Amino acid sequence: MTTDDEMVLTTRRLRLRDFRDDDIDGLYALVSDDRLTRTLAFDSLDRVRAAGMLRTVVAQAADRPRVEYYLAITLRDGDDVPIGFARLGLADVRAGKLGYLIAAEHWNHGYATEAAAALLDLAFGPLGLHRVSAAIGPDNAASIAVAERLGLVREGRMRENVFTNGAWRDSLLYAVLAAEWSRPHAASAKTTTLSR
Ligand SMILES: CC(C)(COP(=O)(O)OP(=O)(O)OC[C@H]1O[C@@H](n2cnc3c(N)ncnc32)[C@H](O)[C@@H]1OP(=O)(O)O)[C@@H](O)C(=O)NCCC(=O)NCCS
Repeated sequence: MTTDDEMVLTTRRLRLRDFRDDDIDGLYALVSDDRLTRTLAFDSLDRVRAAGMLRTVVAQAADRPRVEYYLAITLRDGDDVPIGFARLGLADVRAGKLGYLIAAEHWNHGYATEAAAALLDLAFGPLGLHRVSAAIGPDNAASIAVAERLGLVREGRMRENVFTNGAWRDSLLYAVLAAEWSRPHAASAKTTTLSR
């Protein structure tokens, strides 16, 4: 169901939309896949926990003011089943946190870059943020490549800030400021449009 309040970001190949109650199969497939959660801040989820996550994400989308944009990524050319998700969380004053995940069978097509660019357009456009950061595991070469391609700058290393997959893990802190964000970084997402 589409409501006037639904968030939709459209890029060249992707549609980023709010999660819905009936996305449980799609979300569960993503967050139960060890290949995807190995580099995340949380372990793989069973179906009960995935359903809990979905309830939280759907509820947060209705909060006003909205501080969490956890959006399902779907292919414009495909069905409406999520192939991943991207997240912009508003943390501090005019600052946001960025995250993304793409199903393994869709890796290396530029989808994470395209989706993250759309969220940065949202962050520095309509939301008026000043800074967006991402915390990335030091071994997560693909995510580092996404961040750097988008122009995020490595600012440092947070020591053992995440307990995941049974161990403490460091994170590299990447960030981009509003004044630094420019569309050429997001070459694959030039047609981003926002409707709500
Ligand atoms: C990180 C992730 C979202 C990237 O998704 P994706 O759609 O494949 O990303 P893109 O295709 O936009 O870009 C991938 C980049 O990583 C590079 N890459 C992929 N595997 C790599 C590797 N093993 N070593 C170095 N670079 C690698 C690609 O070449 C590409 O860079 P380029 O555009 O400069 O050529 C995906 O791997 C994923 O979902 N991982 C699990 C969840 C996760 O770690 N999320 C990020 C948490 S911080």
